[in-house]
Amino acid sequence: MKTKIIKINSDNIDSSAIAVAADILKRGGLVAIPTETVYGLAADALNTAALSKIYLAKGRPSDNPLIVHISDLDQLNIFAKDIPDVAYKLAKRFWPGPLTMIFKKQPSVNNIVTGGLNTVAIRMPAHPIARELIRFSQIPLAAPSANISGSPSPTTARHVINDMNGKIDAVIASQDCEVGIESTVLDLSGTVPSILRPGAVTYEQLLEFLPNLTIDKHVLNVAVSSDAPKSPGMKYKHYAPKASVTVVQGGKDNVFAAVDNLCIRLHSEKPCKIGVITCYEHEKQYKNADIIISSGRSLDEFAHNMFTLLRTLDEKGMDNIIIELSSAEGIGLALANRLYRAAGNNVIHVQEDN
Ligand code: TXA
Ligand code: MG
Repeated sequence: MKTKIIKINSDNIDSSAIAVAADILKRGGLVAIPTETVYGLAADALNTAALSKIYLAKGRPSDNPLIVHISDLDQLNIFAKDIPDVAYKLAKRFWPGPLTMIFKKQPSVNNIVTGGLNTVAIRMPAHPIARELIRFSQIPLAAPSANISGSPSPTTARHVINDMNGKIDAVIASQDCEVGIESTVLDLSGTVPSILRPGAVTYEQLLEFLPNLTIDKHVLNVAVSSDAPKSPGMKYKHYAPKASVTVVQGGKDNVFAAVDNLCIRLHSEKPCKIGVITCYEHEKQYKNADIIISSGRSLDEFAHNMFTLLRTLDEKGMDNIIIELSSAEGIGLALANRLYRAAGNNVIHVQEDN
């Protein structure tokens, strides 16, 4: 299949290009679209044949449900039922934006969207192109991240084209995604609200609305198969580059010593290339790594850069990637969640500095 590249500038949206993408979706095709979090692989959430194609293109396990993207609060009731009042308060504060809420599903919701669960995940994206496409086409869009299943999520049009060229009908190529990390997934379908996947809308922000908010135990643990997580996506090794990944987390000086020792050990075991991603500005200090890249000047910048950094170090042929991580608070929890998974739980915890 030839994949059409539809270029759209998010600061000056060309409505004829939106119409081209809408037409492909209407006819049951797949279009990769930019959102403020990551690029998504969109299909008509009401079209069974189109939904099946998503799983095929990504190589995604069929029990891993999809998020439905809406542009208007009125579309919520098409998919969700028993919506608690707090959801409307959260929608007022965080929608459009990087928050996905899980509700009990309406009976009519397609089983392919929900992976057979009795709940459905809904998000109203903030990205002007995603919103305009849903509004213009009047099609709610089921969209997972537009990467090959298991690999780092795509935050640039180039990432999408690398993964999906020839497998889908079209890619809307636009600017890089602002947030760079997928939406927070909040389960409101049970008696106790729970974060199933942390994101840019943080635990601390949600706690103001949900005093009994919990964080699912799988968030900082790669689940074992005997212990099924609520969010099926959490049971797979995920976001993983080809290189083998180690996360080293804790205080600045102790992290430095641990990473440096690990570089020396890995190089002594066999010839290999090591890339280090530093959040503590240790670029100049590591003498035993092959490539050292800064993660950015803040945790927000780290989140924005993270998937690109993993892909870049793969492209540069690294055998090992070692990642410094400081805090797991705020958006740091989302970073820890993605990086622990990329590392297959290969995490070294060192003490905080005194
Ligand atoms: O930011 C995002 O959320 C991006 C953009 C494209 O919107 N989408 C995204 O979709 O990350 P995906 O499919 O890569 O991740 C969706 C996650 C998966 O972990 C899935 O298991 C979980 O949401 N999920 C979806 N529906 C669910 C449900 N009914 N119950 C529990 N978890 C659900
Ligand atoms: Mg994904």
